[in-house]
Amino acid sequence: GTAARDGEPRRGGPADSPFVRACRREPVPHTPVWFMRQAGRSLPEYREIRASVPMLESCRRPELVTEITLQPVRRHGVDAAILFSDIVVPVAAAGIDLDIVPGTGPVVAEPVRTAADVERISPIGRDEVSYVDEAVRLLVAELGDTPLIGFAGAPFTLASYLVEGGPSRTHARTKAMMHGDPELWHALCARLAEVTLSFLRVQVDAGVSAVQLFDSWAGALSEADYRRFVMPHSSYVLGGLADAGVPRIHFGVGTGELLAAMGEAGADVVGVDWRTPLDVATGRIGPDRAVQGNLDPTVLLAPWPVVEAEVRRIVEQGRAAPGHVFNLGHGVLPETDPDVLTRVVALVHELSARPAR
Ligand code: CP3
Repeated sequence: GTAARDGEPRRGGPADSPFVRACRREPVPHTPVWFMRQAGRSLPEYREIRASVPMLESCRRPELVTEITLQPVRRHGVDAAILFSDIVVPVAAAGIDLDIVPGTGPVVAEPVRTAADVERISPIGRDEVSYVDEAVRLLVAELGDTPLIGFAGAPFTLASYLVEGGPSRTHARTKAMMHGDPELWHALCARLAEVTLSFLRVQVDAGVSAVQLFDSWAGALSEADYRRFVMPHSSYVLGGLADAGVPRIHFGVGTGELLAAMGEAGADVVGVDWRTPLDVATGRIGPDRAVQGNLDPTVLLAPWPVVEAEVRRIVEQGRAAPGHVFNLGHGVLPETDPDVLTRVVALVHELSARPAR
């Protein structure tokens, strides 16, 4: 861990929280838990705020970002907050004209398909995302000992939105560029990696306690293509944060075949979806990284005894891992009853409670 590496004594605070300790594979008083998309439409207090403010605008207003980020922490007692933002926020700051359309997702005005298009993606720094810097500082002050997770989209997932022009089931145009014009593909991903690394550095400098790199759609690739076309760029981002002193979480969906590579890319924690049991995932990832996951978000829509049995199984299978952060295998669905999320947090804590050391 960082504290040990720096030779500093442990001081408590977010760097000594169960969440950060689990990421570092250190002993924890209980298995920490947070939920991807914990801030969002499952919460009536979120829907109320967002009723009058468009998504991207809400990401650019530090007081709104702060309030929305804190809502699930207050309500559920989760072990970490995640900054309210979106993976396309830095891409918009880099000069790409896009919007987040309700019920659809990011939509790009002019898709990125040529070398000239790639040139339109400009480098960013703190000035281009000053609202993120400000929001993180406000949040760190409010959160006390609760860690704040910063995040960004990984080059492949960002490239998919930019090349397709919006959400895609097949990622056909993206893969066509990857295989048909590797030089252009690598130029695009190198630009995106630079933007992503800068965006994460702003968050780290402002005080986040961990970062998560979302490569949500990487599971669309074979392992060979992932290693050849994507991993070098994600490694650039994660490697660029190696001495930032915060754990790096690397997440994707449908990535059972990619788990080892996603760890090797430079992650301290690998996110696992519900398709791969955590003990199997640990076997693939190895002893040097923690795992995060992996309740199927649709299970939260089932009767409580079903939820309870699945949570028990996952807490048990997580014991095989060198560190386990409980989460869903993907984001909270908007139709989820938030009281079920609150009960899951309490149950994970109860099932995993270890005597004080
Ligand atoms: O609580 C959190 O997890 C933090 C907030 C967060 C959002 N987006 C807010 C958001 C995070 C971490 C993201 C990341 C993100 N955005 C990803 C990677 C994670 C994943 O889900 O795989 C991706 C692929 C996106 C792109 C994106 N943005 C999609 C697919 C959508 C959903 C479109 C819809 O309306 O269903 C968005 C919009 C978005 N981002 C919402 C939220 C809360 C919904 C906006 C709303 O409330 O209407």
